[in-house]
Amino acid sequence: MTALGELVRYDGRHVVVTGCASGIGAQAARLLRDLGARVTGLDVRAPEDVSALTDFISVDLADQDSVRAAAAAVDGAVDALFSVAGVSSGIGDPLLVLRINFLGMRQFTESLLDRMPAGGAVTNVSSLAASAYRENAHVTAGLLATRSVDEGLRWCADHPDALADGGYRQSKEAIILYGMQRVTDLGARGIRINCTAPGVTETPILDQLRSAYGQQYLDSFTAPLGRVSTPEEQAAALVFLGSRAAGYISGQVLWTDGGILGRRIASQMFDEPLAQGN
Ligand code: NAI
Repeated sequence: MTALGELVRYDGRHVVVTGCASGIGAQAARLLRDLGARVTGLDVRAPEDVSALTDFISVDLADQDSVRAAAAAVDGAVDALFSVAGVSSGIGDPLLVLRINFLGMRQFTESLLDRMPAGGAVTNVSSLAASAYRENAHVTAGLLATRSVDEGLRWCADHPDALADGGYRQSKEAIILYGMQRVTDLGARGIRINCTAPGVTETPILDQLRSAYGQQYLDSFTAPLGRVSTPEEQAAALVFLGSRAAGYISGQVLWTDGGILGRRIASQMFDEPLAQGN
């Protein structure tokens, strides 16, 4: 039997991490390096600290040509892909949020899948903001039925209501359901696909939300664990899901939210009121 400590190691594996310049992606790159991986990092801006990376490739997930060029620049087979890059609705451009968080991420993922061997893993980052993904699935299904970035953009133009609350929720619900949509054919190739759904995590992305909605908005999310998450905690969950220790986990969303969703469901069961934001 292989020891658990061995199953989480990445020795000899090539991993690709988007969003490697900051926050959760930067932490994931460091953990993966420490676990023996060869790490190719991608981001729209160059990281200040490149010590975790074997290669850095510049990419703008909002730009199809840039995504195409970046995928082509990734060297060799890819054992694990971590799509962490993202923006919040605080940037004030719902279509751009959806382009970066979902359409660009999907284009990049699809470009690399042919180079992923059996045993490979795709791990994405959704959000607690996507907790109603089942209730809204009948809408999101239309977006998931699109086959290209251009088709996806046309769907957005035809469905302004879906992006009316900022684009973030829709993009993150699409990430969860994209994993479920692909779980069968990827599974047949021995590839797993999962995502995490973080609650509030102390990274620079919060500055976008602070300036758009104020600190009170962030303070309204109080987790049962009594604090916000660190980027290291989020990265650890990603690294686990991409590792052989998670070998029978696929098509899942892991709510890395300090217990908020569990409390919400319990409060509905027992009809207890919740504070705003929770
Ligand atoms: P962050 O802002 O520290 O990192 C995001 C990274 O994505 C940055 O390095 C940024 O340069 C990169 N990026 C942004 N636009 C890009 C583009 N067009 N092309 C390529 N790269 C781009 O934020 P954080 O918190 O580390 O975010 C990581 C993921 O976690 C995101 O997908 C975010 O939506 C998600 N998340 C974060 C939460 C939080 O409270 N921090 C909560 C729920 C989800």
